[in-house]
Amino acid sequence: MKNRLRVVATAIGVLALSAGFWACEGGGSHDTDDNLPTRRAKMREIKISADRIMAVLKNRSLDGVEADARKMQANWATVIDLYPSDHKAKYIDYNREAQQRALALAGLAKSGNINGSIKEFRDLVPLCNSCHEDCAYMLAPAFPEYEPE
Ligand code: HEC
Repeated sequence: MKNRLRVVATAIGVLALSAGFWACEGGGSHDTDDNLPTRRAKMREIKISADRIMAVLKNRSLDGVEADARKMQANWATVIDLYPSDHKAKYIDYNREAQQRALALAGLAKSGNINGSIKEFRDLVPLCNSCHEDCAYMLAPAFPEYEPE
């Protein structure tokens, strides 16, 4: 019985040690990034909205633009606090600005202002690449199609 207990105690000790080791490996100066899958899923939704908005505006229509712009804003709002602490401040700044611009676009679309919406969309999309360059190390493509020629 005593021996058994000792074995169990040793096993627990080994487990605790290895847990500590992994925590240091994963932690330390880097965060464990459990939120990456959520952020990527939201980004893919944002991309779908942006693609739809671009296609619609190209036809000088505003069909669904307000709804998509609001969706983008909501998706950014969902992930604003989910970035690892390294570069989190920058990520939050870009995210805030993207949300503001998406809301502005939604307002312009709602009021039927096509030229204003096109201009706002053009001001919004460079933020995709800016944030990707600064915060999405190797994890996000560039979207040259959004940049005006
Ligand atoms: C606030 C910063 C920020 C803004 C603004 C931003 N992104 Fe991202 N995006 C990221 C980050 C960071 C990643 C990489 C994954 C991660 O670390 O969250 C990413 C990844 C992506 C991906 C890849 C998703 C995957 O499946 O891996 C797509 C697509 C994407 N972004 C689209 C866009 C589009 C389109 C815009 C603009 C309309 C945009 N993003 C604006 C931060 C941003």
